[in-house]
Amino acid sequence: MLPKKTRAEIDRLRAEIRGHDRRYYAADNPVISDTEYDGLMRRLKELETEHPEAVTPDSPTQRVGRAAISDFAAVRHGAAMLSLDNVYTEEDLREWHARLMKNLPPNENPIFIIEPKIDGLSCALTYEDGKLMRAATRGDGETGEDVTLNARTIHSIPLSLADSAPKKLEVRGEVYISFSDFVKVNEAEQMAGREPFVNPRNCAAGSLRQKNPAITAKRRLRFVAHSFGIWEGGAAVDSETAFLRACEAFGLQPVEHDRAESLENVIRFYYDFKQKRLPRLAFAVDGIVVKVDSYAQQRRLGFTARSPRWAMAFKYPAQQASTIVEKVEFSVGRTGTITPVAKVKPVFCAGVTISSVTLHNFEEIERLGLKVGDQVLIERAGEVIPKVVKVAADLRTGQEKAVVPPKTCPACGGKVIKEEEFVAYRCDNPSCPAQRKRLLLHFASRPALDMQGLGEAVVDQLVDLERIKDVAGLYELKKEDLLKLEFFADKRAENLLAQIIKSCGRPLERLIFGLGIRQVGEKTAETLAQLYDLEGLAGASVEELMRISEVGPVVAASIYGFFHSPETKKLLERLKAAGLNFKRSEKKSTSAKFAGQTFVFTGELATMTREEAEEKVKALGGKASGSVSAKTAYVVAGADAGSKLRKATELGVKVLSEKEFRELTAGL
Ligand code: IVH
Repeated sequence: MLPKKTRAEIDRLRAEIRGHDRRYYAADNPVISDTEYDGLMRRLKELETEHPEAVTPDSPTQRVGRAAISDFAAVRHGAAMLSLDNVYTEEDLREWHARLMKNLPPNENPIFIIEPKIDGLSCALTYEDGKLMRAATRGDGETGEDVTLNARTIHSIPLSLADSAPKKLEVRGEVYISFSDFVKVNEAEQMAGREPFVNPRNCAAGSLRQKNPAITAKRRLRFVAHSFGIWEGGAAVDSETAFLRACEAFGLQPVEHDRAESLENVIRFYYDFKQKRLPRLAFAVDGIVVKVDSYAQQRRLGFTARSPRWAMAFKYPAQQASTIVEKVEFSVGRTGTITPVAKVKPVFCAGVTISSVTLHNFEEIERLGLKVGDQVLIERAGEVIPKVVKVAADLRTGQEKAVVPPKTCPACGGKVIKEEEFVAYRCDNPSCPAQRKRLLLHFASRPALDMQGLGEAVVDQLVDLERIKDVAGLYELKKEDLLKLEFFADKRAENLLAQIIKSCGRPLERLIFGLGIRQVGEKTAETLAQLYDLEGLAGASVEELMRISEVGPVVAASIYGFFHSPETKKLLERLKAAGLNFKRSEKKSTSAKFAGQTFVFTGELATMTREEAEEKVKALGGKASGSVSAKTAYVVAGADAGSKLRKATELGVKVLSEKEFRELTAGL
């Protein structure tokens, strides 16, 4: 007999999973991360294993993939589209490897192929006699959706294949969007008053599953091949490597891949990739896929109900997690800007525990519709500070509370104001201690005057004990002042003083940036330092400043306002007396590796966008052009390269593959 409580939990899990399926699949709008979804599924499976009598044919566990709910015509796949098993730890990967070795003859050491696990959506393309007949999403693994018209708009999906292709080929791969195109799509969505997509995968899914192919066409989706369902007629392939090579010969873009001769090499690759490649990728990858290369060995290993035994996804920790907003606090920045920060129930995400998430500003809170008590989906990408991507408004209980901007500064009690042209609320008290601390930390930070040893704990004490009031005060500090601080002895005090003295010689752009003038970032500071010495800058008029191409009226007014306040005038005098470098900086010459050389890019690049590639060329002193001539130094050919590649060959211009280009520009 099934206990009532278990029954209730099973029902709840099923309903919850179905709800998430609907959001994920029908609306491309999930509110929980994949890991959390997997967790729900795992728990349901556990209960169903303990109580097999509770299993029903419509339980979410009985499907291969997530449920298909759709307006598109259904397509039955010729061969089921299975999924991959996942592991997150080295131990679990080793276990998989041990099982695998047991099922192979003792003297057979498999070669592994390693591919990135691209975080897009899988798509099956059916070619007959080399012509694209149909494109289908995976759906539930048995039945997907017919998205042929949309797929035909994707440049990396060829409409016809080379003659060498098999008579019938159902090739499978990933449809995805680059980070930069994702940002562009979301900007356009927001401009049109629609909700932005939560992440690139949902954006790719929403773009492929479009009623109007013209919209898909605008989204710059990409496709790479990673497997096949049907291969009939034509020369057969006997390994993953041969398959991927054949794809390339047919005109398809194969997923990038590497070989590993041992499990140890696979593991090394996993960490290396995470450290060196992952942060630079132009698109989302959430792990590596390890496959046994030989098809003979694959056949011997076979499949479980859901996935092949010869492949495993070795995933990187989730970048998203859901949690509850417990309260919203306000932090005061160096210019008095008040930033709302959500204190959330601690949650493990992308390798760290997160309890604080920035909300940027009050407009952002409004955009998200966030209230205290809400369940939110948070995301941490790379080194970036975690942020809220979505509020699960449909899970509200009615107890949630709106976030109200504070009327007084949480640090000094001063008046909080909102200036018309800015979105931010600010504390209007120039001697607010929180602002002073932030400004000192900014002044001492690495991109500014770079004073090591001047961290938060020191700044807090210096301000709280009223040892210093502003940045010039740093240069007036004496050893005795420092010795009064907590944990300061001779050596530490001397080191810090040495750092402060050293900062006097830093180039002017660092000082300008360090002063914390509103609207003046590192890049603008650099431009200003190349045009003026500090006193010249202080005397520049608004009109003059506006003649600088990157300085608009708001920035110009901010610079002018800053230098024309009596406090700044006094501050500059003290900084000058302290010996800081006010001299104009020389124009920086960029690296000249490609000086005088013109590059032409053609076809689809897989690991970076065209813009990123062109940026690299420019950063190395070269030029990027759209047309090939005898003067072109290199043509870089991605997938589907056409007439430009032909022209390059005719003219004898050197052609580089994307990989060669990456090698040439490595380290940038
Ligand atoms: S091979 C039997 N290779 O991950 C499955 N899949 O969970 C054969 N994916 O639906 C798939 N990158 O869409 C394979 N390099 C890769 C992949 C990859 C991403 C997706 C695929 C599949 C899902 C499996």
